[in-house]
Amino acid sequence: MATAKKSAPLKKSAKSAKKAAPKPASKSVARSVSKAPAKPAPRAKKTFSESEDSSMLQEFMLDSVKDIYWAEKHLTKALPKLAKAATSDEVKKAFQDHLEVTLQQIDRLEQVFGILGKKPQAKKCDAMEGITKEAESIIDETQKGTKTRDAALIMAAQKVEHYEIATYGGLVQVSKTLGKNDIADILAQTLQEEKQADQLLSDIAESSVNNQAAGEEE
Ligand SMILES: [Fe+2]
Ligand SMILES: [Fe+2]
Repeated sequence: MATAKKSAPLKKSAKSAKKAAPKPASKSVARSVSKAPAKPAPRAKKTFSESEDSSMLQEFMLDSVKDIYWAEKHLTKALPKLAKAATSDEVKKAFQDHLEVTLQQIDRLEQVFGILGKKPQAKKCDAMEGITKEAESIIDETQKGTKTRDAALIMAAQKVEHYEIATYGGLVQVSKTLGKNDIADILAQTLQEEKQADQLLSDIAESSVNNQAAGEEE
């Protein structure tokens, strides 16, 4: 610990030692720094003070908001494809309803950008792109009009919900840590909706779709 603290002033003293100071002794290092207030120690930039921690965390939060903003927008294109491909009305409706919910969630994220004093900006979310690609591949890999397709689409959609739950859950916590309770409250509403969507999909799968799919022959 002690050596780590002294490492920054050591660099500084090394320069001055070359120029003038004849004392190589490390004990004089701390003194020479304190005697030279004209040049503020550069180590301040590298020290993880509390305020800098917060600003880095806030930067990370903003980045995550941009990421999920892209993801939600992307879902407004993917969900209609899933709804169209689904076999049962119940599954179609679940996807269509969640599209409406997703549009509201996008509005909420725009509110969050506003609170942060930023313009809404989407940053490509590779994870959501991958998850939705997988969902769309299910459409190619399953037979049209089967409950097997619905069972597979439900599972794919739940992967989307779980990614969203993880993201919003994390964002709510980080917002609280940063003292941004207004943002935490807004995102907590979305978190609840994602959890409800996930539960609804589970209910549909368990109550009807999976059993019906189990009876389908290849
Ligand atoms: Fe969402
Ligand atoms: Fe969702």
